[in-house]
Amino acid sequence: MIGVGVIGSVHAAILKERGELCAVCDIDASKLKKYADIPVYTDFKTMTEAEKPDVVHICTPHYLHAEMIIFALSRNINVLCEKPLCIKKEDIPAILEAEKSSKARLGVCLQNRYNKENVFVKEYLKDKRVICAVGQVCWHRTKEYYQSAKWRGKLRTEGGGVLINQALHTLDLLQYFAGMPEKITASVSDLTLKDCIEVEDTAVIQSVKGAGLTLYASNGCAVDMPVLISVKTENELIQILPGAVLINGVLQTPDGESGTVRGKECYGSSHEILIADFYRSIENKTEFPINGEEAAKVVRLILSAYESKGEPVDV
Ligand SMILES: NC(=O)c1ccc[n+]([C@@H]2O[C@H](COP(=O)([O-])OP(=O)(O)OC[C@H]3O[C@@H](n4cnc5c(N)ncnc54)[C@H](O)[C@@H]3O)[C@@H](O)[C@H]2O)c1
Repeated sequence: MIGVGVIGSVHAAILKERGELCAVCDIDASKLKKYADIPVYTDFKTMTEAEKPDVVHICTPHYLHAEMIIFALSRNINVLCEKPLCIKKEDIPAILEAEKSSKARLGVCLQNRYNKENVFVKEYLKDKRVICAVGQVCWHRTKEYYQSAKWRGKLRTEGGGVLINQALHTLDLLQYFAGMPEKITASVSDLTLKDCIEVEDTAVIQSVKGAGLTLYASNGCAVDMPVLISVKTENELIQILPGAVLINGVLQTPDGESGTVRGKECYGSSHEILIADFYRSIENKTEFPINGEEAAKVVRLILSAYESKGEPVDV
């Protein structure tokens, strides 16, 4: 484990249960106290060289992902990295090159793809043409949330606001269902958190060429509301709610083992399923579906949205 903050602790608990947690690293030594029974480190390079693990989980702030991924892949160590893959356009080809040259795999935690309702919809859409996919993320993030860690709310370290952090999963699902647009237009603004963040708390993305998608996202809502996604095909309106799907108004209850909810409800419950799938792909030497190229798609969309300033831009 590299980074055992909010989400790293969720990964560590899952790995511990699987009997696969061999060492933990965090620059904040106070976070290491609860891992007294295994080797702990404050430097990820030292840990990686000393432990030679089969897999590293990267659960650090956004700006560190690219460097840590490339370091581990260059040593042929499998990497499971938290989202986003990276926060700079130029890091995408460097990561993809490192992945190609490595004997190891790269997987990225876009775990909502494993939520049972999304698995159901992806399968349902297999032979259908999607006209458009629309998503709404209305969540509540406070000044205290942004002050809870130094990297949050800063352009250099978070890379953006609601888009690259909270709404990334939903935007990823929109493109997963509808496909990648060629051109988008977007606007981002800070409507409610001006005194504590330098990134956006509100964003709209609209595709203008290629696959149809629309995203509305805000961190300024009074409470965390459920994410809503609607997908339109020629004959169907599919509405995805947490744990349920409506097709032309008829309720479907997708099966699937969503497992216990780890971490906050709004993360979704599928970290455990994604981690199991990643480890299975290593053991069976099969492709892990959310590799560098897959995880780069949503990053390309987001970084293009930041460039757009209300004008059409290529993705
Ligand atoms: N998939 C999801 O649903 C989900 C949910 C929450 C967070 N995340 C992602 O997980 C990542 C971490 O988020 P968080 O909320 O856990 O943040 P956090 O601040 O709670 O944890 C980050 C940890 O990394 C440590 N760290 C910082 N620099 C380090 C370094 N150089 N070496 C080792 N450790 C270092 C920090 O001390 C901290 O303990 C982010 O990329 C975030 O977007 C994903």
